[in-house]
Amino acid sequence: MRDFKKYVQLDQEVVWHPFTQMAEYAKDDPIIVQRGEGPYLYDIRRRRFLDAYGSMWCNVWGHCHPEMVKAIQEQAAKLCHASLFSATHDAALEFAGNLVDAIKQDFRFADDECTLSHVYFSDDGSTAVEVALKMALQYQNQVGQLKRNKFLVFHDSYHGDTVGAMSVGSIQTFKRKFGNIMFDVLSAPYPIQIDPDEPAESFKQAERVMESAIAGASDKLAAVLIEPVIQGAAGMRPLAEDWLARVKKYCHEYGILVITDEVFTAFCRTGPLIASSKELVLPDILCLGKGITGGTLPMGVTVASDAVYDAFKGEWSEMKHLLHGHTYAGNPIACAAATKNLELIEREKLSALVRTRSRELQLMLKERVSKHPRVGPIRQRGLAVGVPIKTRGGKEFDGHEEDGGYEARGEAMKVVRKCIEQRVLLRPLGNVITIVPPLNIETAQLEEIVNALAEGLKVLA
Ligand SMILES: Cc1ncc(COP(=O)(O)O)c(C=O)c1O
Repeated sequence: MRDFKKYVQLDQEVVWHPFTQMAEYAKDDPIIVQRGEGPYLYDIRRRRFLDAYGSMWCNVWGHCHPEMVKAIQEQAAKLCHASLFSATHDAALEFAGNLVDAIKQDFRFADDECTLSHVYFSDDGSTAVEVALKMALQYQNQVGQLKRNKFLVFHDSYHGDTVGAMSVGSIQTFKRKFGNIMFDVLSAPYPIQIDPDEPAESFKQAERVMESAIAGASDKLAAVLIEPVIQGAAGMRPLAEDWLARVKKYCHEYGILVITDEVFTAFCRTGPLIASSKELVLPDILCLGKGITGGTLPMGVTVASDAVYDAFKGEWSEMKHLLHGHTYAGNPIACAAATKNLELIEREKLSALVRTRSRELQLMLKERVSKHPRVGPIRQRGLAVGVPIKTRGGKEFDGHEEDGGYEARGEAMKVVRKCIEQRVLLRPLGNVITIVPPLNIETAQLEEIVNALAEGLKVLA
């Protein structure tokens, strides 16, 4: 108990938590996690919590999976860190080689050959996106398209919190206070489709808007940046089927690069290893992060096609090399974890497992949660779920929409608190309660989450 008091004090006075109102946070005793096992986190007071938000959406194998731990320990005993700036190391080579093979395997039925073969290491999702933006700009510059220096992004997009990544984000709540240092971007709609089995509502009008935005700026656009399959941070907004193919079509027509931000969706979160492989839409640049190390260590990568990569070749003195680099890029321990993650994904047939669990979760939510009068249409792709809370008047909101959504947001927080009381860790995004568990979660543990949520919803009259 002495430790508990000391840690509470340290937590309130010394640690500044991400995206957290510290004044409110300090009103409750914190959950001081000490260890993890499977999908559970154990705190200093010996309480067990189900990590139903997968430690901010990155957890694949639960906590302290013995094979992940072993891979990390073995690598740490050999080499903890050596820079990729002037040498290379076997851990990065193993991982990059396996990743490229796995991506190609995922896209093997695509019309065009997959040439996503060049892995650029960074530290997390935001830096993977920063690299993609700079890569696209420098590429256009080096192929002589000097005027192509703009990006087109989609409504409600989220690509991270560093300044470049924020600029290409569209959620105003996150960027308003930094408005005067953001660069301008063009934008287009992100048509959503709640039910993957129902035909999508016509997106003809949205398509016209996108086409005219692209066509109108076709000589200025360096790249279009999109989150395929589902926007996570926007409040789990599933993308209408076929939209990605349209994006690619117009970009292709006008010689604009396609960057897919799969920081959230890749590594089987929505089923396939790479989410956009479901529709066989190949990007020119692919951003990865979060689940890349199975949820154990920070790492981001940006994977470029041959055509992009080739534009960076030349003599040193030409300064055509990519002008970017982070100290810990390609950290060997993170690479060893990422290699083990890929091995387990294949061995455990994770894509198929996620599809099975996802159907189970869908049914449980349908029976026990969706009928609640304050719950809006549930959005789900794989094991990425958003449960929107409506206002008392029955109005539906979309995650961060500001216009009057405050009431529903407060209520979502109340439900989440009730879930945490039942030892299930969930997190709301605005008025949307998100469920993003470890991907190897078992059926009984999904039951635990859904039961806690159903019980939590009782706080809403
Ligand atoms: C689509 C997408 N891109 C980028 C990021 C940023 O990743 P990170 O928080 O690792 O910087 C996120 C994080 O949620 C994301 O969902």
